[in-house]
Parts: sequence; C-alpha cells; structure tokens
Amino acid sequence: MSFRVRTSTSSCQASLAPQSAPSEAELLAFVRRTAADAELVAALPLDPEGRTWIRLEGPGGSEAWLIGWPPGAGTGWHDHGGSHGAFAAAAGGLTEQSLAAQLPTEGWKVLELADGVDRERRLTGGDGRAFGPHHVHQVFNTSPTEHAVSVHAYYPPLPMMRRYGRTGQVLRLEQVEWPEEWG
Ligand SMILES: [Fe+2]
Repeated sequence: MSFRVRTSTSSCQASLAPQSAPSEAELLAFVRRTAADAELVAALPLDPEGRTWIRLEGPGGSEAWLIGWPPGAGTGWHDHGGSHGAFAAAAGGLTEQSLAAQLPTEGWKVLELADGVDRERRLTGGDGRAFGPHHVHQVFNTSPTEHAVSVHAYYPPLPMMRRYGRTGQVLRLEQVEWPEEWG
C-alpha cells in the first residue's frame, strides 16, 4: 500500500497531477464501465451474512473494488483519508447519505453539524457518483430482500479512513483505520 501522496506538498502534487493522477471524472467513467461488465459482476460471490469483495485494477494506480452488499448491509459514517473517488451501482440499489460540508480533517473528536448539511441519494442500475477528498458519507443497501453490487475506485489508494459515530447533529470521531488492518 502506498503512502506517497499523503505526505506530499500541494505544490508537488500539482506538478505531478496532470500525468499521473486519475481525476474524479476518470474514476467515475471507470466505475460506470466496470459496473456494466455483467460477467465480472456475476463472478462476485455473495454472502447473506456480510459484504464480499474482489479487488480490481483501477486506472492510473487507483484502488478499486467490486463489493457485494446483502440486504441491510451498510458502512457507517466514514471519510476516505483525503482520497477522491467514485462508485457506481452494478446490481440492486444503494442509498448514500452524505454531508454537504467540509469538515476539518484534524484536531477534533466531536463536532456539531449545522442544520441542512444532510444529503441523500439513491443509486441503482449503473448510476454512479464521484466525490472529492473531503467527502464524508455512509452507504447502505436498504432492500430487505435483494443483494446490491457496486464498484468503487479511490485515488490515491486509501491511505487511511476515519470512522464516525453520529447522534442527531453530533459527529464523533470513533476510529482511524489503516490499510494494514484491511488485509
Ligand atoms: Fe466510502
């Protein structure tokens, strides 16, 4: 797992970006294209007890996954450690709840969200969305009966993820996860 971009200066990233970094639009095109690959999607094992996944080769060195979601499965609130990304529904449907606010990334444990920052969208059959490096969301399969399958891509490969608990408008940083914990 690479940590190279996490510690780069912004000026260094800017000089590298034109050749090496896949944009949000490129990641979105990749996840949409991959979600339309019926043979690949059908190859994902599904488990009624939990999420399943296959690691994919993302464009431009990005990290990509095909993920299966049994009915009721969800992620909880999290960010992507400063990576941007995209995801698309390949089968079934997913609901995304997100925050239309840029949170400070460091130096807080509890934060009260302003009213009106919540957004919700539904992704089905090939729908996709891209997101920026400060995106905070949770994703879940609300279907009581059907699996969902989705494709995700992140650049740079996730350096870490922050997990949050939420009660009303209060968001609490609960855990920081590192790639070595994901196996
Ligand atoms: Fe996410």
